[in-house]
Amino acid sequence: MARTFFVGGNFKLNGNKKSIKEIVERLNGASLAEDVEVVVCPPAAYLDYTVSLVNKKQLSVGAQNTYSKASGAYTGENSVDQVKDLGAKWVILGHSERRTYFHEDDKIVAEKTKFALDNGVGVILCIGETFEEKEAGITLQVVERQLNAVIAEVNDWTNVVIAYEPVWAIGTGLAATADDAQEIHASIRKFLAEKLGADAAEKIRILYGGSANGANCSTFKDKKDVDGFLVGGASLKPEFVDIVNTRK
Ligand code: G3H
Repeated sequence: MARTFFVGGNFKLNGNKKSIKEIVERLNGASLAEDVEVVVCPPAAYLDYTVSLVNKKQLSVGAQNTYSKASGAYTGENSVDQVKDLGAKWVILGHSERRTYFHEDDKIVAEKTKFALDNGVGVILCIGETFEEKEAGITLQVVERQLNAVIAEVNDWTNVVIAYEPVWAIGTGLAATADDAQEIHASIRKFLAEKLGADAAEKIRILYGGSANGANCSTFKDKKDVDGFLVGGASLKPEFVDIVNTRK
């Protein structure tokens, strides 16, 4: 079946009203492929503002993190209900920067994923191995462990998009080759088919993330298990439009 191409722009902790307005207005004004889903994910402080700017059917807004509790004494956390109230449709969870700098383990990621889905926000679930894990030849064990934690909590994967992001490729300029990404994505889909059934696995979008940019995106475009990108640095630049239009 055809899976709708999906491109996420993760602004990380970057931007201000001026730069975010420029990015969103560029997307609003661009000729975008009809059959693409684009989710821009600004810092939480700019969610409301970004939602107010978005004005194209292909575009929606996502948060970069939410917590596994609805509300209460959790200083500094983002509530699923609150980001939804602001108009966010998606949240990025399990990003390697959250796993590394904020010590989010597989269980925490799984709990947050379940909570977001149960409360009506789609999840861009990030998985991926470090350079040392790749060198040790355990990439598949790592991503399967990360997925298993979520599989233990979540039955319905309809509103999950997986982002395979090898940690060694994030922000380094050293993207995985399209062939290597395709091989891992196919293995991830096979694993999902074993765990969730072939139908569910066939419907899940699997994005590639890690130094994807306007110059290399076209090399991925015919890879049958690469259903889009999660883009960091290049989502802040004009070339993001080219990435969105990879299959146009
Ligand atoms: O969420 C996005 C990824 O971390 C990729 O970031 O495109 O800057 O390498 P990057």
